[in-house]
Amino acid sequence: MATYQEFIQQNEDRDGVRFSWNVWPSSRLEATRMVVPLACLYTPLKERLDLPPIQYDPVLCTRSNCHAVLNPFCQVDYRAKIWSCNFCFHRNQFPPQYAAISEQHQPAELIPQFSTIEYTLTKAVCHPPVFLILLDTCMDEEELQAVKESLQMSLSLLPPNALVGLITFGKMVQVHELGCEGCSKSYVFRGTKDLTAKQIQDMLGIGRGAAVPQQPRGQAPHPSQQQQLPANRFLQPLHKCDMALTDLLGELQRDPWPVAQGKRPLRCTGVALSVAIGLLECTYPNTGARLLMFVGGPCTQGPGMVVDDELKHPIRSHHDIEKDNCKYMKKSMKHYESMANRSANNGHIIDIYSCALDQTGLHEMKYLCNLTGGHMVMGDSFNTSLFKQTFQRVFSKDAKGEFKMAFSSTVEVKTSRELKVQGCIGSCVSNNLRGASVSDTELGLGGTSQWKMCGLYPNTTYAFYFEVVNQHTAPIPQGGRGYVQFISQYQHSSGQRRIRVTTLARNWVDASINMQHIAAGYDQEASAVLMARIAVFRAETDDGPDVLRWLDRMLIRLCQKFGDYSKDSPTSFRFPEQFTLYPQFMFHLRRSQFLQVFNNSPDETSYYRHMLLVEDLTQCLIMIQPILYAYSFNGPPEPVLLDTSSIQADRILLMDTFFQILIYLGETISQWRKAKYHELPEYENFKQLLQAPVDDAQEILQTRFPMPRYIDTEAGGSQARFLLSKVNPSQTHNNMYNWGGVSFTLHSLSLSDAGGHVLTDDVSLQVFMEHLKKLAVSTSS
Ligand SMILES: *[C@@H]1O[C@H](CO)[C@@H](O)[C@H](O)[C@H]1NC(C)=O
Ligand SMILES: *[C@@H]1O[C@H](CO)[C@@H](O)[C@H](O)[C@H]1NC(C)=O
Ligand SMILES: *[C@@H]1O[C@H](CO)[C@@H](O)[C@H](O)[C@H]1NC(C)=O
Ligand SMILES: *[C@@H]1O[C@H](CO)[C@@H](O)[C@H](O)[C@H]1NC(C)=O
Ligand SMILES: [Zn+2]
Repeated sequence: MATYQEFIQQNEDRDGVRFSWNVWPSSRLEATRMVVPLACLYTPLKERLDLPPIQYDPVLCTRSNCHAVLNPFCQVDYRAKIWSCNFCFHRNQFPPQYAAISEQHQPAELIPQFSTIEYTLTKAVCHPPVFLILLDTCMDEEELQAVKESLQMSLSLLPPNALVGLITFGKMVQVHELGCEGCSKSYVFRGTKDLTAKQIQDMLGIGRGAAVPQQPRGQAPHPSQQQQLPANRFLQPLHKCDMALTDLLGELQRDPWPVAQGKRPLRCTGVALSVAIGLLECTYPNTGARLLMFVGGPCTQGPGMVVDDELKHPIRSHHDIEKDNCKYMKKSMKHYESMANRSANNGHIIDIYSCALDQTGLHEMKYLCNLTGGHMVMGDSFNTSLFKQTFQRVFSKDAKGEFKMAFSSTVEVKTSRELKVQGCIGSCVSNNLRGASVSDTELGLGGTSQWKMCGLYPNTTYAFYFEVVNQHTAPIPQGGRGYVQFISQYQHSSGQRRIRVTTLARNWVDASINMQHIAAGYDQEASAVLMARIAVFRAETDDGPDVLRWLDRMLIRLCQKFGDYSKDSPTSFRFPEQFTLYPQFMFHLRRSQFLQVFNNSPDETSYYRHMLLVEDLTQCLIMIQPILYAYSFNGPPEPVLLDTSSIQADRILLMDTFFQILIYLGETISQWRKAKYHELPEYENFKQLLQAPVDDAQEILQTRFPMPRYIDTEAGGSQARFLLSKVNPSQTHNNMYNWGGVSFTLHSLSLSDAGGHVLTDDVSLQVFMEHLKKLAVSTSS
């Protein structure tokens, strides 16, 4: 019998799924009492090299409101050639091509190990992907040069049949023709006035894209036999225009409009986007396309402007937002949100590569990535390895030599009838499909059972939240199982349409008598990430303190429900093993940059939150609770507690926060390095000790996307603050126990409540835990 640990790992490897609860309570009432919702993290395109290549269409349940896909959990009558749908119990006849199946001769989709399977639709039309570059030219010479070089490099990484285009902007927008070499013609748009897609189409002289003709029935095109798409002079196949485009990029100049002293350049990011989206909309609607936007500063004119061009007016901060003192923010966000909506409706991805020392307006523009599945990359300069390597990794390929990006995807969720889906949190938009599986209560983006994900990558992970709707008066028979099916359709980078289907089953248990079974199947890591996503989702609209109070309340209730204790005796409190790390995750989440925003700019907050909403479980956990390793002469490198006590004079620490990789030399080590001991032959072992964390850091820097910031610091160094802000302050004056005399009532119950206001002082994990236990066991709560 496998342990739950093994079960959870196997499920993640095979299906890309992690549930908060792996045994499900069979009634709505019991489910609501479990505090952490029944939910899962799902990675639709999890890298799988062992999936069989299936070149036929999936078989669907014929009941009109079901259409679930045939899967290993369906009951099959091989003699009668009938299968029963495990979602609606409808009995379906197998299609004629399954006439030869038998118990000994099963199609792959019925074999238990293929609970996740992928179909390639051979009849679907293949499309080459479209890449449209949208480049800000209001940068200084060095920045522009660096982007141009990166872009030229990227052309060699794209498939030759890809369609490419270039739009540049500063005070005006220029759409470049890629017709012939030597003649660089472009169309210029004013940067202050928004245009409709129709106006853009007319001004560029583009005929409306003819509908793509359907392939004759039964005649499967070879993948290389690409469908002809309507031609225009702005988006050309790379193999025809790469010389012209390389030259064009090479000759590109900075925006020629003079910028007076004390002014920002006039930059019309909002209109440029509108032109780019309009161009894609009228040429390649519902075809895989990626808009790559490079910005070196904020939008300062026209729709979408974030700040005006007076340098003496700084760009908004969190304090300005809190005081509702932002002249342009709301209007600007509305503009970008509607742009993002349009792009998402067309199935087009928008990436933002933002590199500048000051903010560029990611806070306002975040919807562009958030709603379209685009990348959000933030750096100080385009001339850094952080940007250059990150950008190069956008075009990286998997073990099969295929791009790690998929286009125009949808993910649909089907549930067995005891269960409904409340919503999704991740990079997507709703397809407003109100099927039978949709819950009336929303969590995240709800009211639908299908979502659109314009861009998907192997690690993109969505959080799906479920509601048990079964009443406790309608018991589920012993051994009954609930099912969830994910049906993900996407355009593979080769142009093929593919469908990946994951079907999951978990046991129902009557929680009123078998609570320990439910508790045994708890996945604290998945739960931490699922709760973190809800917190971040709420933080986008609610007050920060409200979100913290909500998190605290949920944690206290979880302790009360699953802890083992005698009333009013905090020292008696014990958490079952599978819960023990959870309070610590919540402790770090509360003090993380995701919820404590005032040390960051709104752009930084948007960037951090965006990553938490798209990454997989492992990476999200690192973001919530960074990993710390220690290197010393006392043995091999080892993981150590994220705690001030881990900072020791004779140690080197390596901290991974996902966004930063930090190396910190303890005081003694730092002195030895200053004395250059590592350069002396007799201290070879010291040289090796110094090198070990650097090598390990390199390994992380080489694989992660986006590339993290690398920080090399030491005891007393100014950058050591990045470490000190993350470790548990166990050895500071905050250890003082200052909660006395505060009474708590259930509705205002909070770990941060002292006299009604939230503490700004950072309490240690120990104080937090003591306080938590006290509240959990209290009879008055
Ligand atoms: C980019 O930075 C490097 C190192 O700082 C410098 O040598 C190089 O000249 C810069 N590139 C440009 C285009 O200025
Ligand atoms: C974007 O689309 C959603 C759903 O279709 C809608 O609720 C929202 O108002 C739209 N936002 C804008 C700014 O158009
Ligand atoms: C992402 O988009 C949703 C709307 O679908 C919005 O509510 C949420 O706040 C956005 N999140 C971030 C981090 O931008
Ligand atoms: C994807 O996730 C895996 C496991 O969490 C990680 O090892 C890998 O580096 C990630 N890839 C990227 C490109 O982030
Ligand atoms: Zn069915």
